[in-house]
Amino acid sequence: ASPVSRSSSGVLSVDGVPVTELAERFGTPVYVVSENDFRARARGFRDAFNAAFRDLCGGVDVYYAGKSFLCSEVAHWVAEEGLRLDTSSGGELAVAVRAGLKGRQLALHGNNKSDAELNRALDLEVGRIVVDSLDELQRVGALAQARGATANVMLRLTPGVHAHTHEFIATAHEDQKFGLSLAPSSSGEDSPAGQAVAAALAHPCIRLLGVHSHIGSQIFESAGFEEAARRLLGFLAEVRDRHGVALEELDLGGGYGIAYTEADAPRPPAVIAEALAAVVGNACAEHGLRAPRISIEPGRAIVGPSTFTLYTAGTTKTVQVDLDGASHPRRYVSVDGGMSDNARPVLYDADYSAVLASRTSVGEPVLSRVVGKHCESGDIVVRSVYLPGDTTNGDLIAVPGTGAYCWSLASNYNYLTRPPVVAVKDGQARLIVRGETEEDLLARDVLRGENNDRATLEAGA
Ligand code: LLP
Repeated sequence: ASPVSRSSSGVLSVDGVPVTELAERFGTPVYVVSENDFRARARGFRDAFNAAFRDLCGGVDVYYAGKSFLCSEVAHWVAEEGLRLDTSSGGELAVAVRAGLKGRQLALHGNNKSDAELNRALDLEVGRIVVDSLDELQRVGALAQARGATANVMLRLTPGVHAHTHEFIATAHEDQKFGLSLAPSSSGEDSPAGQAVAAALAHPCIRLLGVHSHIGSQIFESAGFEEAARRLLGFLAEVRDRHGVALEELDLGGGYGIAYTEADAPRPPAVIAEALAAVVGNACAEHGLRAPRISIEPGRAIVGPSTFTLYTAGTTKTVQVDLDGASHPRRYVSVDGGMSDNARPVLYDADYSAVLASRTSVGEPVLSRVVGKHCESGDIVVRSVYLPGDTTNGDLIAVPGTGAYCWSLASNYNYLTRPPVVAVKDGQARLIVRGETEEDLLARDVLRGENNDRATLEAGA
């Protein structure tokens, strides 16, 4: 059931809490996350993938991709629903630790992890460090050796699959920064992936668990995931033939698309899981492999749809625009946030939708554009949406589907404060990330005459 409903006066409620009350208590803009919805989607992935893969490999480990949205409260939800957490920096690890996650509950990713981040992962005995390069493999090995420990390692491979999504979020083709290529080098040397396996198996302080690939994000077609799985299983068969070792784990990454507008039609996790299980089953049979333990890393598909951003409308204006050779009015509705709380339209041409959330309107729907308050004309929240023609100053506007990569990509552009995140559940709303204040903004600004020697400042002097 959708957590969203409308009262007779047209006020939108989420999990029984009216948006007017949310705006009053927490101000706008505010990100509002339905805790039940988040948990249901987390369980949805866990149950669908476990059902599809149980007979093949005993089950699936689902790692929630923390980069999509993370705070300690969400880390608790993830753990309580039996998921693990994929982190991609020391900062994300710090949040996980704050929520009490440790060891096998954690993975660490990144194409350029620092020694400090790697050491932190080793301190926490994270279940897997996903190694991105030969250089990093050597560093992880040396750091583990220096402390007499063993590092649990997955190798991130680029299977050469091109996912059909925005260029900046496609990650498994050759010409980009992530991962170890499966392709042999032109000089006839072993592929980087092959070299990394040999080096990892030879290292006394590395336990090589398996291989990983993440082909990109906001993907609707399963062909890319399936092709990546086939290529990685083919690679595991080569490793077995060459080294006599059966690597035990295969991570297929995240990237499952969600509906931002009515034009998007994502498939349910069960459908994706069954298609993938069939591919994995067939490829294993073909190569005579025992199926490795499968893991996945969905972020967006769990948190994205669970959240909307609530804004207050301000200035409006109407301009005439040429559309398909005819002149049409377009209404600009400015809201009290924008590209600082949702950078996705600017970064990826992402589409969103919007609704008038605080009242019923009998106004004719008019072609509208929801824009922010930043000093850039590209500061667009929703490029094209029909809103009631009488939408005006003081109305609340809700933009759905903003759970993933909105708060986490937020900025202080124009010295705006980053909005709070509020969780609603069973008629109750509570703050899970405090909004910034002007004091927060000024706290890092070094006053003229203050001793700005870095060491002194960091010591709090
Ligand atoms: N695993 C790895 C290794 C990843 O790099 C990512 C996302 C995920 C899992 C989770 O992908 P998801 O299921 O959330 O699609 N800022 C961009 C998306 C960047 C994705 C980065 N990596 C956006 O807003 O569209």
